[in-house]
Amino acid sequence: MINLPDLKTADVKNKKILLRLDLDVPLSIDGDIEDDTRLKDSLETLEYLLSSEAIVIIVGHLGRPEGKDEKLSLKPIANWFLNQLQITSNDLSVTNIEDFEGFKFSDKLFLLENIRFYKEEEENNPDFAKKLAGLTDIYINDAFAVSHREHASIVGVVKLLPHYAGFRLKKEIETLSSLLENPKRPFVVIIGGAKIETKLPLVEKMHQFADYVLVGGKIAEETRVLLKVQHEKVAERKSVLLVADLNEDETDTMQNSVENFLQIINLAKTIIWNGPIGKTEGQEEDLEIGTAKLAKGIVESGAYAVVGGGDTIGYLKKINLLDKFSFVSTGGGAMLEFLSGEKLPGIEALIEDI
Ligand code: 3PG
Repeated sequence: MINLPDLKTADVKNKKILLRLDLDVPLSIDGDIEDDTRLKDSLETLEYLLSSEAIVIIVGHLGRPEGKDEKLSLKPIANWFLNQLQITSNDLSVTNIEDFEGFKFSDKLFLLENIRFYKEEEENNPDFAKKLAGLTDIYINDAFAVSHREHASIVGVVKLLPHYAGFRLKKEIETLSSLLENPKRPFVVIIGGAKIETKLPLVEKMHQFADYVLVGGKIAEETRVLLKVQHEKVAERKSVLLVADLNEDETDTMQNSVENFLQIINLAKTIIWNGPIGKTEGQEEDLEIGTAKLAKGIVESGAYAVVGGGDTIGYLKKINLLDKFSFVSTGGGAMLEFLSGEKLPGIEALIEDI
């Protein structure tokens, strides 16, 4: 079991804390938060710190901005925290890193503007990490969903400050580790959705431990290409791989593929799912579309079912099935990487020196 540095052992009173959270939530075209699961999951650590009289600077990202992009500002996230914590905008506003120069900390809570507005974040630039670390006394990672990225606010700062795991991160690692140790079989992994470059290598890796790997949605076609390219690897596979057929305009998985998936799901004792296998903009009660049918099948199978990823979770909430899953992970790509046996750079950095 991974031994994470325990936040409860830290003396946080009156200390300045750099708190890395998962703030990357799905937004509507009007910029409204469509699903706040990740934000809710961050409250336990944040409230613990505030009630322990710590001064907290929240750091997080939203989307994949290229430079400063007002549409991906963290202002809607700040408003969400204002409502949840019942504080006023005087107590929390979106702050730029530059604003902290010579700053006097009379307030208790700050939210840094989207950290990916700075290209140095994704480059894991050491000077940028130093600048971030220089704002505070202690670093806490409570951002499991981005812990597979070697970025400054996830890895760079860790070496520079005493560091701890947030409560949500701890829960993710504990739950997913015990799942990996002894899964009930048949073990079925379902991968769909976007972010092809992250997920495609994981389709291969999942064969190390899963009995079935089902691939649908946008990555289905790419997976076929990969199979042709790496032909020898097909023979070495330990598990069965099923790649869905898409309809003509490639917006959804064909009914017969969904039916094939459901047959396997009915055999499963453990299911891991990340990524919709087609469009998710149907009506709430419209259970005809592939992702909804799949969701319903998973819930009805009675298997231990884990789901992760912002888009999948948002959609399941909309069709009222999310609370029927055994565990909802905040991670999408991070969950898949962890479960495929990869070491996540953010987690490795936290445990390196303990
Ligand atoms: C996610 O939503 O999976 C995380 O926020 C990571 O986002 P990324 O794939 O853009 O790094």
